[in-house]
Amino acid sequence: MDKRTFIKGLASFLGITFLPIPIFAMDKEKNYSVPKEKLYLEFWDKIRNDYQLNPDFINLEGGYYCMLPQPILENYLENIRKVNYLHTFYKRKLMANDKAKIIQKLSDYLQCSADEIIITRNTTESIDTILSGIDWKAGDEILYGKQEYPAMIAMIQQLAKRYKIKPVEVNIPFQPQSDDEIINLYKSRININTKLILVSHIINITGHVLPIKKICQMAHEHNVEVIVDGAHAIGHLDFKITHLECDYYASSLHKWLSVPLGAGLLYVKSKHVSKIWPLLGDNEYPNHDIRKLNHTGTQPFAVQLTIPFAIDYLNQMGIQNKENRLKSLKKHWYQKLWNLKNPNLVFYSPVEENRSCAIGTIGIKNMNATDLADKLLNDYKIWTVGIDFAGINGVRVTPNVYNTLDEMEMLYHAITKLI
Ligand SMILES: Cc1ncc(COP(=O)(O)O)c(C=O)c1O
Repeated sequence: MDKRTFIKGLASFLGITFLPIPIFAMDKEKNYSVPKEKLYLEFWDKIRNDYQLNPDFINLEGGYYCMLPQPILENYLENIRKVNYLHTFYKRKLMANDKAKIIQKLSDYLQCSADEIIITRNTTESIDTILSGIDWKAGDEILYGKQEYPAMIAMIQQLAKRYKIKPVEVNIPFQPQSDDEIINLYKSRININTKLILVSHIINITGHVLPIKKICQMAHEHNVEVIVDGAHAIGHLDFKITHLECDYYASSLHKWLSVPLGAGLLYVKSKHVSKIWPLLGDNEYPNHDIRKLNHTGTQPFAVQLTIPFAIDYLNQMGIQNKENRLKSLKKHWYQKLWNLKNPNLVFYSPVEENRSCAIGTIGIKNMNATDLADKLLNDYKIWTVGIDFAGINGVRVTPNVYNTLDEMEMLYHAITKLI
């Protein structure tokens, strides 16, 4: 029995514990008297085996960009060979058709229209395309969280110098009591000049999942548009872009969707496309065509060609299954440390299950973030990243589907020793 058949069998059998995945076929050879918990663990072991993991450390730094599982890596290598072999014939004769198919596949996955998305190189390019393409007037205001990604804050500051717009910052609480607390925070800073809210779907330094749909609904009541920084969300959370009701959405597909480095996404609600200036000049497409925003020169075709395979790989795992697994990995160390009620621990990520997923950030009082990350690596062989920014002084821990509950247990014990 090959690995894929085995995983398919497991997934369809696991029922409530593990959501059924329609494309998986029941495997008749399997002994189904095995307890569900065991099958659940075996399923994730099989996924883990798809990765070539470095035995020198436990990798809990999956938040920067993804490690490709071997099947996706192989597909990527095939695509590199194909593009190299066909050379310019590929670009001149085949690429446009392939690109249309890739866009269609992505838009089906995200449940938006194919003419509302383009493939960029990353979130930074996607967000800056919109920020620099809006017709700003002096005095316009842009509202954003203190914990937004630094490159976006830098772009806002540049716009402020260039167009005399006003940046307005809100400080997002680490442990909000309710969605309303967050909505009201943004609402309290809106005025007649507010033009745009920039908000992360998942805050990168805390893993905080924000109530995007409610923020968008509130903003629209005040005629304010919303651009969502979803760098971490596609392939991490189970959601569809259009359900969020946002105006613009940006993501890096090389993070949680497991696409090779150099793939991002920009969604623009169709009614907004005409008013956005392209960052780089374009004479190829009419003003209402989103492709005018994608004129960034020769692109990494092999990376883009790997997107459909990465979507298929994720669909076989099931995004809801993946989200649940990531949540349980986080809970396994974070909730347990939270329950200790130790005054020397500082919790920067929400503990509430619906306000976070894989990422958890934690600090130890009187210990510098970099020192804590170094101690975890040198003394316990656990690879994380120290964050000392926007009021955070701790390590960001980001497990992915290749991590095990045992590894999270080891992290838990390491931190209890270090307190
Ligand atoms: C919230 C957020 N936005 C944007 C980015 C930038 O992503 P990229 O470097 O792929 O553009 C990151 C990267 O980690 C991020 O976490």
